[in-house]
Order: sequence, then structure tokens, then C-alpha cells
Amino acid sequence: MRAWRYHVLAGGTRVGTISLRDGHTRVFTHLVGHIGFAIDAEHRGHGYAGQAVLALLPEARRLVDIVWITTTPDNTACRRALERIGCVLVEAVDIPSYYVTYAQGERTKLRYRLELDGW
Ligand SMILES: CC(C)(COP(=O)(O)OP(=O)(O)OC[C@H]1O[C@@H](n2cnc3c(N)ncnc32)[C@H](O)[C@@H]1OP(=O)(O)O)[C@@H](O)C(=O)NCCC(=O)NCCS
Repeated sequence: MRAWRYHVLAGGTRVGTISLRDGHTRVFTHLVGHIGFAIDAEHRGHGYAGQAVLALLPEARRLVDIVWITTTPDNTACRRALERIGCVLVEAVDIPSYYVTYAQGERTKLRYRLELDGW
């Protein structure tokens, strides 16, 4: 597995981070996802997360045909950010007990699919 982490910049200011992961096992497609991101609290609400995902797609395209991004049902902000850029909710899956976030109380992941055709 390879992974890259980038700063997210807006007008030269660092506003968050985004990661790209090159993995094809179920852990990547169903649990952690190919792309993960966080925007610093003071910079939220400007669409930066979605714009950062779109900016990463040329790199993602070199690794996978379909980008899977996961989140939890209660993460409304993430779900809104994903849906705004065209990610499609495919399904909810149970988090297995071996996965790290199970111990933190998470039980369900939502799997969002982002087609790379057209980008
Ligand atoms: C999820 C996250 C990355 C979204 O980033 P963002 O750049 O703020 O995304 P957007 O600007 O598109 O806003 C998405 C939603 O966040 C909510 N939001 C808006 N302003 C906000 C603020 N100041 N603070 C918190 N949430 C806010 C709104 O519900 C918004 O949806 P809406 O515009 O349709 O009402 C960010 O909230 C975050 O870093 N959260 C913690 C880490 C995390 O959950 N990462 C994703 C893991 S799957």
C-alpha cells in the first residue's frame, strides 16, 4: 500500500489535509477509502474539502478507476461535501470488529463512489 498526504491550500493559506491511498483490498474500498480529508475548524464551510478532492482526481486516476470515499452516517458535513461534488452513496456496510474505528464505537460506514470518467 502506498499513501500520500497533501496540505490543502486556499489562497496560499493551509486550511487542511487530504490523503490519497493506493489500495484495492476491501479495507480500502469499504472501510478507509481511497481519499480522506480534514479541513481545519476555522476554515470549514467554504467547500474546500470537495475542491480538494476534485484537485486530487488526476493523481487518483493514475491509481484506480473508481474512487471510494467512506464516512459515517452521522458525519453530515462530510456527506454534504461529497454529494456536492457528485459522489454517489452506494451502500452502508458493517464495520468489522477488527477494524480500528470499531473500538472507537463506529459500527457503520457509508460507501460513496466517485466515477473518474468525465473529470
Ligand atoms: C467534513 C469536512 C472535511 C467538510 O469540509 P468543508 O470544506 O467544511 O466542507 P463544505 O464547505 O462543503 O461544507 C460541508 C458541510 O459542512 C457543514 N458546515 C458548514 N460550515 C461549517 C462550519 N463552519 N463548521 C462545521 N461545519 C460546517 C455544512 O453542513 C456543510 O454543508 P452545507 O453547505 O450543504 O450546509 C470538515 O467538516 C471536517 O474536516 N470535519 C472533520 C474531519 C472529517 O469528518 N473528515 C471527513 C472524514 S470522512
